[in-house]
Amino acid sequence: MWRRATLLSSLLPSSKASVLNQEKGRIPKKEKPPFITFVLGGPGSGKGTQCAKIVENFGFTHLSAGDLLRNEISSNSENGAMILDTIREGKIVPSNVTVKLIQRAIESSDNDKFLIDGFPRTEENRRTYERIIGAEPNIVLFFDCPEDEMVKRVLSRNQGRVDDNKDTVRKRLEVFTSLNLPVINYYSQKGKLYKIRAVGTEDEIFEQVRPIFAAVESLLKLYDDSTRSNKDLLIFKVP
Ligand SMILES: *[C@@H]1O[C@H](CO)[C@@H](O)[C@H](O)[C@H]1NC(C)=O
Repeated sequence: MWRRATLLSSLLPSSKASVLNQEKGRIPKKEKPPFITFVLGGPGSGKGTQCAKIVENFGFTHLSAGDLLRNEISSNSENGAMILDTIREGKIVPSNVTVKLIQRAIESSDNDKFLIDGFPRTEENRRTYERIIGAEPNIVLFFDCPEDEMVKRVLSRNQGRVDDNKDTVRKRLEVFTSLNLPVINYYSQKGKLYKIRAVGTEDEIFEQVRPIFAAVESLLKLYDDSTRSNKDLLIFKVP
C-alpha cells in the first residue's frame, strides 16, 4: 500500500543543494549539513528498540536526550553540576541546555545522520531547538501506541518502582501526550511526520520503519554521488 508520496528532496537541508554546486572535494566534511530525524513517542512506545534497529541497519547515530543529560552529569563538569542541581530542585532542565548538548554531540561526531530521541517533548523545546540549530529536522518519526499498551509496557519494565501503579503511569502518560501532541501536529502540517503504528512484534514494527530509511538512504547516496541539478524531479515513494 502506498501510504504517501513525498518529495524527499525537499526534506534535505537547503544548504546541501549549494554544496552540490561546488567543486567536488572542496567542501570540508563538517560543512555538509547533517540529516536529522526526530524520534517521538511516549514511554513504552518501543521507540528505543526501533532506534537500535535503525542504527544497526542504516548506520545512524542515536542521540538520546536523557543519555546526553546523564552523561553530562557524570562528567563532573560545571554544566553537569548545574543540571544535577536543577533536577534535585525538582525543576525542569532548560531547553537550551539540552539543545546545546545535542548540538555538541552532532558537531563532534564523524557521522552525518542522526536520530534524536526523547526531544522535543514540548512546543517550547521545539522552538528552542530550531532557534539554536537554525534548521528543522529532515523527518520526524512518531511511534503511535495505544495508551493501554504503553501503560502495560511501562509497568512491566519498571517493576519495583514504588510510585508505579496503573493510575500514576496513566497520569504521567496523559501529561506527556498533551505536551507532545502540538509538536506532532506541527510536523504533520509541515509534511514531515511519519507515523508508525507501534503495535505488534519488534520486527513487525520495524517493517514499517525500514522503507522510510531505505528511501532516505537512496536519496542521501544520490546527493553524495552525483552533481545532478534537477533534484526536484526526484520523487521518492515511501510505502
Ligand atoms: C539558557 O538560557 C538562559 C536564559 O536565557 C541563559 O541564562 C543560559 O545561559 C542559557 N544556557 C545555555 C547553555 O545556553
